[in-house]
Amino acid sequence: MLTGKHCVITGAAQGIGRAIVETFVKQGAHTVYALDRNLDNMQDWQDHAVIKPAALDVCHRDAVASWVQTLHQDNAVIDVLVNNAGITRDNLLTKMSEDDWDAVIDVNLKGVFTMTQAIAPLMIAQAQGAIVSLSSVVGTDGNIGQTNYAASKGGVIAMTKTWSKELARHGAQIRANCVAPGFIETPMTANLPDKVIEMMKSKTPLGRMGTAQDIANAISFLASDNASFITGQTLKVDGGLVI
Ligand SMILES: NC(=O)c1ccc[n+]([C@@H]2O[C@H](COP(=O)([O-])OP(=O)(O)OC[C@H]3O[C@@H](n4cnc5c(N)ncnc54)[C@H](O)[C@@H]3O)[C@@H](O)[C@H]2O)c1
Repeated sequence: MLTGKHCVITGAAQGIGRAIVETFVKQGAHTVYALDRNLDNMQDWQDHAVIKPAALDVCHRDAVASWVQTLHQDNAVIDVLVNNAGITRDNLLTKMSEDDWDAVIDVNLKGVFTMTQAIAPLMIAQAQGAIVSLSSVVGTDGNIGQTNYAASKGGVIAMTKTWSKELARHGAQIRANCVAPGFIETPMTANLPDKVIEMMKSKTPLGRMGTAQDIANAISFLASDNASFITGQTLKVDGGLVI
């Protein structure tokens, strides 16, 4: 359970992010700041008692700093940060443009750095907190056509291991973990050809794509006090795709 927790979730408008927000509310969170590039898909949360939607692009460092400044002004406490925002721009190594490399690294790697750097002082001030970042099995095992994405998601794991050491100094109970999803049914994978979807299902021992809820369940566990002695880890949630 996440009873009474104050949580920040990026990329909250759809897919896995939306499932995380709704799961955190069900698990008793006090406040869920739901952040995404714009408010388009979050209108239904405008007057919600727990969910506080806001337009925030994790690549806009100044905007992130000024949004976090409002938290400081309100003396807000943050217990949980979920770095979920992510994009793909797939192509083979020999065809990948510099723009596609930069775009993916900017959101998936630098965006996670920017958000965590901005929120960490609030956790350090309380000497407690939980950071959960979305990696991918592509970040641990690679995948054809995803050089940029693999680099970004591998980097998230490396940053997480670093934070699990750095932020827990002086007795602070600040934990950092990753969830590495396999092949999940969300808008990100909606346009893949049927033959790719069937091939991925056939490679997955549990024989199906994962759901956003499968991932949200793992994230809510790692964010909760039930995971109070787990840090620096990457939990694969992939139906056995990568063993
Ligand atoms: N779907 C999968 O199979 C899968 C597998 C492994 C990992 N993941 C990871 O899980 C996370 C969520 O994926 P999803 O499938 O729900 O994707 P999605 O495309 O359905 O949703 C991603 C959300 O992130 C938001 N976003 C993108 N760039 C942003 C930015 N700069 N600032 C703020 N918000 C931004 C988008 O607007 C969108 O709402 C991503 O980090 C993704 O890499 C997904």
